[in-house]
Amino acid sequence: MACESEKWVLMVTAQTPTNIAVIKYWGKRDEDLILPINDSISVTLDPEHLCTTTTVAVSPSFDQDRMWLNGKEFSLSGGRYQRCLKEIRSRASGFEDEKKGVKITEKDWENLHVHISSYNNFPTAAGLASSAAGFACLVFSLAKLMNVKEDHGRLSAIARQGSGSACRSLYGGFAKWIMGKNDDGSDSMAVQLADEKHWDDLVIVIAVVSSRQKETSSTSGMRESVETSKLIHHRAKEVVPKRIVEMEEAIKNRDFESFAHLSCADSNQFHAVCMDTCPPIFYMNDTSHRIISCVEKWNRSEASPQVAYTFDAGPNAVLIARNRKAAALLLQRLLFHFPPRSDADLKSYVIGDKSILQDVG
Ligand code: ADP
Ligand code: DP6
Ligand code: CO
Repeated sequence: MACESEKWVLMVTAQTPTNIAVIKYWGKRDEDLILPINDSISVTLDPEHLCTTTTVAVSPSFDQDRMWLNGKEFSLSGGRYQRCLKEIRSRASGFEDEKKGVKITEKDWENLHVHISSYNNFPTAAGLASSAAGFACLVFSLAKLMNVKEDHGRLSAIARQGSGSACRSLYGGFAKWIMGKNDDGSDSMAVQLADEKHWDDLVIVIAVVSSRQKETSSTSGMRESVETSKLIHHRAKEVVPKRIVEMEEAIKNRDFESFAHLSCADSNQFHAVCMDTCPPIFYMNDTSHRIISCVEKWNRSEASPQVAYTFDAGPNAVLIARNRKAAALLLQRLLFHFPPRSDADLKSYVIGDKSILQDVG
């Protein structure tokens, strides 16, 4: 490592939006490598409202890897963080900046330490996929910093080892996580199905029911489901494969009726699996159920559905309106039934559309 002074710091900042699955990933066949029991499909959200911003820095004056999450120091000792760091480090390439007098060889990266500072502009661990945006951003920014020359597919396979859902956040628009067949996970990665411009009529409204941290993390919830639910295995083998084909077709043809039908049915089956788990896991609450009833009633009163709903591992509703007009009507209905007050069932609304990964560093 050649440098004029030991004082240099190299930094990269990246921003990654979260993604919400419309065909859910729930259940692993390999806990360490994070290999799922079924394919999944998601839509990537607008980074203005729901995203992670991560700055990674490297300097010879850092004596250990450290991380801060939302301003508080956070331990990097967990296997998932270590795995992502190791995978990126092993692919690092040399770097030279003559002006700064910095030269790093491929070998140097093994001994250089990083500092990571990450912020989520939305609730962490509350069922809005913070692990997806968080790990995708971590892997993407580290890869930029360490001059890793891998395509998005390979980076998505690394992000997958941080949190499964993260592999889909490397792409804008619609993404599919292909579960893969290999035991080593080499073919388990995400691909883009359509970019953010493909279906730009869609408007996404997130109804924040609670920003509290959930009691059962996605990781332990799905482990308990795999161990105790029969429904999850029926779902993975018999239901999801067909839905994946139908959902890909609906996205390709911008067929909102099929899209809404499949998204709602898949969200409901995922929560049914949670109920079928022993002991049962309740991610949705009464307010979530009332939102479902409100949307179902409205959709049934129209010639075709206006809004699709999906709920991740938490009570917050992700509502996908077919166009701006439907989104405006949806908001009117939500504001009528759930006026946002500090003591109300529904705390706030976030409105946005689909988006792409942004590299701001
Ligand atoms: P969520 O529904 O928000 O994805 P999970 O239980 O799946 O909830 O994951 C939450 C965990 O994800 C956090 O406890 C933390 O370990 C990790 N995480 C969240 N945000 C970030 C981030 N910005 N950078 C790195 N890790 C993060
Ligand atoms: C309900 O990706 O958070 O959001 O892989 O254990 O980190 P780990 O779990 P995570 O699970 C996401 C579950 C889900 C559905 C989905 O995003 O597909
Ligand atoms: Co998560």
